[in-house]
Amino acid sequence: MRKYLVIGNPIEHSLSPLIHNYWMKKHSITNSVYEKKKVEKKDLRDIVNQVRSGEIRGVNITVPFKKEIIPLLDEVKGDAQQTQSVNTLCRVNNEVYGYNTDTEGFKKSLNDSLSSNNLIDRINKNIFIIGAGGVTPSILKAFVGTANKIYITNRTKEKASEIKKLGDMSIALLGRKRSIIEVVDWGEKPEICDVVINTTSVGLKKNENLDMDFKDYENNKNTLFYDVIYNPKETNFLKKARFRGNKVMNGKMMFLWQAQIAFQMWTGVSAEVDEDVIKLLDND
Ligand code: ATR
Repeated sequence: MRKYLVIGNPIEHSLSPLIHNYWMKKHSITNSVYEKKKVEKKDLRDIVNQVRSGEIRGVNITVPFKKEIIPLLDEVKGDAQQTQSVNTLCRVNNEVYGYNTDTEGFKKSLNDSLSSNNLIDRINKNIFIIGAGGVTPSILKAFVGTANKIYITNRTKEKASEIKKLGDMSIALLGRKRSIIEVVDWGEKPEICDVVINTTSVGLKKNENLDMDFKDYENNKNTLFYDVIYNPKETNFLKKARFRGNKVMNGKMMFLWQAQIAFQMWTGVSAEVDEDVIKLLDND
């Protein structure tokens, strides 16, 4: 049996097995199973060794191990280097490589025709990122090459400054001259932006509210309010944006696309992100 895993802590809520097992069945990839496993930090080395030996074919990593896994890997590739965030492990030439498919998944969610009418290109836009948690560097990385300006704010300002440093390194590597990333004090708001993204965990519980006032976006039909949370489907952050008349998108398409990219890396199969797979999440 070919074994795939998603590891994290907590992990009960993960919908990755649902999606990957659906695609495996659909594409007749037999003898394969994708499971979830709650692990502790001390278990990570053993998991990496099992990938190295081929015992496990592929692993997704979720909160809170995306960074902690890095020292245990043989190589860290692509976006994972500049975000210091690994969500996918692959075995390559008897070694374990770490990748980040969150950044690419997020980019795809912005220009996927199934994301209703909220398509947005990333060229020359002003972006406001709220939060500085595990997923934030992956979101920031999606914009460093193309944005006009990126504002980032977090309740704990130092964490926003750390993430800005990662972004600045990416910008330097891209050869962009000026620093386009600015840390904004918590409670302050920058100029009107084209995309406002919640990357905090506020909203995971139904009646949680981000204490931030977006009245100046009233009837603004151009700005996209994006929440990386997809369960619940509509956080208060998105609900208020919808009432104001803004564009809204939750994290569902990002989640599906990061999975799609990992699936292709492991199996060589380009699975569909279509209405059927979207329905799977909606029904859960
Ligand atoms: P994860 O890695 O799961 O994203 P995290 O690193 O703890 O978790 O990040 C959670 C994010 O939500 C952080 O930006 C956190 O802000 P702090 O860095 O100040 O903790 C933010 N967050 C959580 N609860 C919050 C609250 N009640 N108000 C504002 N921000 C909050």
